[in-house]
Amino acid sequence: MGLTALAVACASSAFAQQAPTTPPSLTADERAEQMLKQMSLKDMHHMVQSYNTMQGQQPPGGIGTAGYVPALDKLGIPAQQQNDAGIGVHNYPLDAGPGKQPNHVRGEQGNATPLPSTLAVAASWNPQIAYDGGRMIGGEAHAQGINILLAGGINLTREPRDGRTFEYLGEDPLLAARIDGAEIRGIQSQHVISTIKHYAVNDQETNRLTVSSNIDERAMRESDLLAFELAIEDGHPGSVMCGYNKVNGVWDCSNNHLLNEILKGDWKYPGWVMTDWGADHGPMDALSGTDQVSGIDVGTGLSIGSTSNSFGDPLLQAIAKGSIPRSRLEDMVRRILRSMYAVGLFDFPPVTKALDAEADALVSQRAAEQGIVLLKNEQGQLPLQGAIKSVAIIGGHADAGVLSGGGSAQVWPIGGPAIPAVKGPDWQWKVYDPSSPMKALQKLLPNAKISYDDGSDPTRAAALAKSSDVTLVFATQWTCEGVDVPNLALPDKQDALIDAIAAATPHSVVVLENGGPVKMPWLSKVSAVVEAWFPGARGGEAIANVLTGKINPSGRLPVTFPKDETQLPRPVITNEQQVDYNIEGAAVGYKWFDKKQLEPLFPFGFGLSYSSFGYSNLHVNNYGAHVTVSFTVTNTGSRAGMDTPQLYVGMPQGSGEAPRRLAGFEKVSLQPGQSRTVTLTVDPRLLAVFDPQAHRWQVAAGSYPLQVGHSSRDFALSGSATVAAASIAP
Ligand code: BGC
Repeated sequence: MGLTALAVACASSAFAQQAPTTPPSLTADERAEQMLKQMSLKDMHHMVQSYNTMQGQQPPGGIGTAGYVPALDKLGIPAQQQNDAGIGVHNYPLDAGPGKQPNHVRGEQGNATPLPSTLAVAASWNPQIAYDGGRMIGGEAHAQGINILLAGGINLTREPRDGRTFEYLGEDPLLAARIDGAEIRGIQSQHVISTIKHYAVNDQETNRLTVSSNIDERAMRESDLLAFELAIEDGHPGSVMCGYNKVNGVWDCSNNHLLNEILKGDWKYPGWVMTDWGADHGPMDALSGTDQVSGIDVGTGLSIGSTSNSFGDPLLQAIAKGSIPRSRLEDMVRRILRSMYAVGLFDFPPVTKALDAEADALVSQRAAEQGIVLLKNEQGQLPLQGAIKSVAIIGGHADAGVLSGGGSAQVWPIGGPAIPAVKGPDWQWKVYDPSSPMKALQKLLPNAKISYDDGSDPTRAAALAKSSDVTLVFATQWTCEGVDVPNLALPDKQDALIDAIAAATPHSVVVLENGGPVKMPWLSKVSAVVEAWFPGARGGEAIANVLTGKINPSGRLPVTFPKDETQLPRPVITNEQQVDYNIEGAAVGYKWFDKKQLEPLFPFGFGLSYSSFGYSNLHVNNYGAHVTVSFTVTNTGSRAGMDTPQLYVGMPQGSGEAPRRLAGFEKVSLQPGQSRTVTLTVDPRLLAVFDPQAHRWQVAAGSYPLQVGHSSRDFALSGSATVAAASIAP
């Protein structure tokens, strides 16, 4: 469609209530079929092209920050308003884009609530927290006219230096899928479609538009693809976004194997595949399984990736020539309509209304509180006692706010950033959410004298530490889309600052606000470490609540923290166009550390509490390849708290990619002395290896060791299940 035609199509109001032309009593499939029958070739062609609305270049009628498909009013088909949503309804300031056009979801004051980073939500190990967060951001989107959120990022943390680690859900397929599935369900409960992205093996930002992720079929099925498979089954996202990268030399969005054979074939995915912005590579992508091209340039030349609209004239020409059958176009549109009906875009169009900012901020705070991980707490340094007279707070702008990650996941917070935002290397922004840990702490410790030093002069900061009862150092690592971090060190000489503080006081607490794992050369010298990630709209309050014990910390690491980069499968990130993921294969994260018998800094699943928990009474029940494990969890400490017992399974005769896999977990809340029985059911695919020749998940007959523990390295109960052989279709 040219610009003029687009402008005509845009004439319909973004919010106009569309009369449903098919009765809601029919199924989504039936309604899509009926609608399809009424559509001309031109109408169908319209549906598969989404126009770029990024950075001030949106066509009239487009209100989201990413993409727009105008309504087809004559058929009652609503517009698709596509907005990014890693951690909330993405927005950015008016002066961010070259066009500087007013955009409904932008504003200096911000109009959306940031959740903590997705990695922090994963650290909650609590699907309910993810669901609540999804419902909150889905509601905010719906109230702003947005009906498609580009959420659901689930690329596994193969590469902890990935600048987007904070947008994803860690290194384990089961944990990532449970959290992602719940978030997607939450978003879609608000009649807003959620994507899941970036399909597939889009695990680093270095050369993100060109790199090929090379990995064997079995390894891919048991790792990155398993995460997508489980999350899609749980969350039923309306759309899957294919990534920029190649897999084994074939572009994600041109990848017949990934899209047609696996996603739509093996998994019977009924929704549509949209490209990442500019990730199309010609009209034949349609035959490979892509259903919609996104990020089509409307004349400003600002597109990322491809600047040609593969599904514009080239698609029509291919259909006219017969190289792409018209039935394929029908299938593409059927899939889009089916998701729009299934999620309620026809029956429950967005209604503009004011946000309940207070309620939404509380949802974000609860997520942060459950995602904060207490990594070290020597001699009960924490929680801070009410009797404390003086607290020094050093660095990290902790007097003003908390750090957030940059890129398309960024949310410009309500009230504007805590300190002036700084532009990143490209279009990203470094933004501090206006939630001051210092102010929140002062409220909880009204009798303490709390002093702030920005940490720019370690000698001055150390002097303040020396004269204070306890010192909190806020250390930050900003990460963003588009750029990987060069290594796992804290930037800006913060290690030296922490060293200086640790030398000055025996009571030092490091609070980390970071995108992903970092090295801690000072670990043995400090009293306590609190991993707060990017903690979102109420991060300051969440941190203060954990520091003072108002909230008993309950987060567990969703990623391994290595001692240093030499422990990683790839000690350095190179500028190569081929990345060899067969080095670790399916042994991602803790599985690699277990296989190589490496001692990490902190293992996957680790996290302390102000209480303690004991496990007993292991019972294993199995029938065929169905294994259920139950056990008792007891709060053996003196404070109420939450614990996440984790079940790990080994494969018979070491046939797995690594000694053990996470096979189940549950977060439980217990009063002191209270016990509860936890029952976990193991998905048979977690007992299987994927056999590419047979094209099946194969469960071998044998004895499967089972362990219940506090982390991937700390087990309290062990048993085994004698499992019968099984073969499962993918
Ligand atoms: C990112 C996607 C995002 C899209 C639209 C791309 O550059 O990779 O995650 O959804 O832009 O903003």
